[in-house]
Amino acid sequence: MLRRSNFCSICIAFNLSVLLTLAGSQNTDNTNHLPSGSRSRDPKNIKPIEDVDDSLLQLPTNPDGTPNIDKILDRTRLKIKNELSNYNFAQSRDQNLDGLLMESGGQPFRSLITSTWRSGTTFLGEVLNALPGNFYHFEPLINFGIVQIKNTSEVDKALETITKMFHCNFDAMEDYFEYGRNHSYQFSPNRRLWDHCKYKKELCIDADFTSRFCKLFPFQTMKVVRVRLHHIRQLLEDTELNLKVIFLIRDPRGVMQSRQHCGFCLRTPDCLKPELLCADMISDYVAATSLKQEYPHRFMIVRFEEMALNPNSTTQAVLKFLGLDRTPSIDEFLQSHTNFSKGGISSTFRVSRDVPFKWKNVLDFNYVNEIQMKCKEAMSLWGYRNAHNATHMTSKDYNPLDQNHCVDQFLIPPDN
Ligand SMILES: *[C@@H]1O[C@H](CO)[C@@H](O)[C@H](O)[C@H]1NC(C)=O
Ligand SMILES: *[C@@H]1O[C@H](CO)[C@@H](O)[C@H](O)[C@H]1NC(C)=O
Ligand SMILES: *[C@@H]1O[C@H](CO)[C@@H](O)[C@H](O)[C@H]1NC(C)=O
Ligand SMILES: *[C@@H]1O[C@H](CO)[C@@H](O)[C@H](O)[C@H]1NC(C)=O
Ligand SMILES: *[C@@H]1O[C@H](CO)[C@@H](O)[C@H](O)[C@H]1NC(C)=O
Repeated sequence: MLRRSNFCSICIAFNLSVLLTLAGSQNTDNTNHLPSGSRSRDPKNIKPIEDVDDSLLQLPTNPDGTPNIDKILDRTRLKIKNELSNYNFAQSRDQNLDGLLMESGGQPFRSLITSTWRSGTTFLGEVLNALPGNFYHFEPLINFGIVQIKNTSEVDKALETITKMFHCNFDAMEDYFEYGRNHSYQFSPNRRLWDHCKYKKELCIDADFTSRFCKLFPFQTMKVVRVRLHHIRQLLEDTELNLKVIFLIRDPRGVMQSRQHCGFCLRTPDCLKPELLCADMISDYVAATSLKQEYPHRFMIVRFEEMALNPNSTTQAVLKFLGLDRTPSIDEFLQSHTNFSKGGISSTFRVSRDVPFKWKNVLDFNYVNEIQMKCKEAMSLWGYRNAHNATHMTSKDYNPLDQNHCVDQFLIPPDN
């Protein structure tokens, strides 16, 4: 399905002569994170490719049939350069692309989106991934399982993994690659990488190729949902990384409602129990308040509900915080992904105005009340108001957000 539906765009992307005419434009089409997913496709985009060994057509190969790595890297270099030819580097630390490339000894923009499951990290990750020249490290800790990583030795390992990946160093990451061998969704959201290894899976589990490829990208984005904020502090302290962190917070009632539809969540306590979610929200609140003070220019809090209601201005605020230019590809992404409801469980099509408060109409009040009791402190700290009874919960007058509570470092104006 994925293979087929992307045939056309890949074909174009690899045709060099066509590529040159495409500078500035890019494919924001591939957003379904479950390769076998249920997202419906516009039939006219699907080209039959029976009887074509497209791996031979698409990947440059050596005479012995192995992928020609140097050629892949050359083409990618050129593609990034072309796609960023209209990019405004004026607000960057460096005034040009080379200064941002690790392969030329430069410092890329590194940004980390962090939260917990079902809190909008996928959506925000995709917004940033719409930026040309972005390398998207998608859930590097996915092989740890559906857990919050708490145990000291595991936390150390997790932070080391994150740090190494941000440096495009994939050495000694057997666990990561081994997991990816059978779980391609670990790689596929990183579509600029996946565009190559969908034809030759071995490329994605090749540490050397991944590392060389990664170093071509001026923007390095990662999303992580398994490490709590007080551990993320270490990453902010790492001056070499020069990382910016965006923390997403969401109403626990909305999180729990969303997790009900999430098969992988139903089996594990960290995902299933509101009291665990809310204990983490409290610890995250403590960490967030001090990080906000210590790193006002490198740490940002975004409220999920705000992002869903005002995706345009939230994106604007996030880009400003990260020091990134707003490209037409980002606007295209927002336009096509924020106003209708469609797709599978991780589909980003579902972030839109009716998402944040859907729980009011679909959850039973008894369950909501149970969450509210277990999450009393977390909700009060983060500015979420209780529903008093079933009638109150579903009434239009009830606003779950405490408007006087300002969790956001940057005030986000409403979308027009
Ligand atoms: C931490 O995790 C490691 C590896 O999974 C395990 O061997 C160790 O027993 C754990 N320690 C604690 C205190 O849970
Ligand atoms: C991965 O899948 C292959 C077959 O597709 C199987 O032989 C192998 O045991 C699997 N590995 C893991 C770690 O599940
Ligand atoms: C989105 O925000 C940008 C920047 O604030 C603004 O220029 C643009 O007009 C907005 N687009 C829409 C559709 O509101
Ligand atoms: C989505 O946007 C289109 C125009 O951009 C508008 O006509 C339509 O009503 C919107 N749909 C929803 C559900 O907001
Ligand atoms: C439900 O809560 C609202 C708001 O607190 C209150 O005005 C109303 O009387 C309550 N209704 C019932 C049936 O308890």
